Amino acid sequence: MSRFPVVCVIGDPIAQSKSPRIHRYWLDKYGISGDYTRFLLEPAQLEPGLRHMVDLGFVGANITIPHKENVLQIADQVSDAARQIGAANTLLFQDGAIHADNTDGFGFMANLQQYSNWQPQRPVLVLGAGGAARAILYALAQANAPRIFLANRTRSRADDLAAHFGAPIEAIDWEAVADVLPQVGLVVNTTSLGMQGQPPLQIDLAPLNTAIVTDIVYAPLETEFLRQARALGHCAVDGLGMLLHQAVPGFERWFGHRPDVDEALRAEVLR
Ligand code: ATR
Repeated sequence: MSRFPVVCVIGDPIAQSKSPRIHRYWLDKYGISGDYTRFLLEPAQLEPGLRHMVDLGFVGANITIPHKENVLQIADQVSDAARQIGAANTLLFQDGAIHADNTDGFGFMANLQQYSNWQPQRPVLVLGAGGAARAILYALAQANAPRIFLANRTRSRADDLAAHFGAPIEAIDWEAVADVLPQVGLVVNTTSLGMQGQPPLQIDLAPLNTAIVTDIVYAPLETEFLRQARALGHCAVDGLGMLLHQAVPGFERWFGHRPDVDEALRAEVLR
């Protein structure tokens, strides 16, 4: 590792990325000399930009929209998680080669474990079939969730993901959500509904038996969906922790210290 490791997050747009705040908080907290910056790269600049960073001695990068899928074609090595999810968010530059990994599923599971007592016993309901759903389905399958119902407004996208991952994922109609609610122990919103500027996710949770409800949305921190879950006595887990925990494996690899996700980091990112 170089004596002053430097990492950046790459996307287009990039100004909104919270990653520099997260990593700089940890660099500061652990007194590690290194830096974490951000670069705006358009799709055509991605490959030459990454190769240039390798030559300059960067130790790695985070990748965000719109490059998370395309970077798999550029990387020299792709982890099992990134291949199965079909996207990468964390790159490690080592001996001139680009290694691509996806830590979103890890972040989802670590957040769930930090704020709930989830066990892979009862079936799970996942709402949405976009990029975030792929990482979460991967993580739930790896964690041996016994049965995963996948509901999406556009049924064909749920069918495609169920075919891609296979058992234990079963696509169901969006209209069939109420029918499976009584048997599930975990409900996950992976859609963009409930995010600032988006309509709320309107699913009546009345048929749900005591369960855990989690949302990938973290702005606002408490979505209407989570508020409803909490009001009905369910354990509600917000999406901020997924964002924070997905950064842990990258920080550890680049800077050599496994960081903690603590309340002060949450406050720093919400500030
Ligand atoms: P990402 O890759 O960030 O997950 P995405 O691929 O655009 O983003 O996925 C967004 C998810 O939110 C999809 O599951 C989408 O459903 P469709 O596949 O039917 O588009 C879901 N979504 C967005 N707006 C929705 C709405 N008004 N009602 C129900 N689902 C919605």
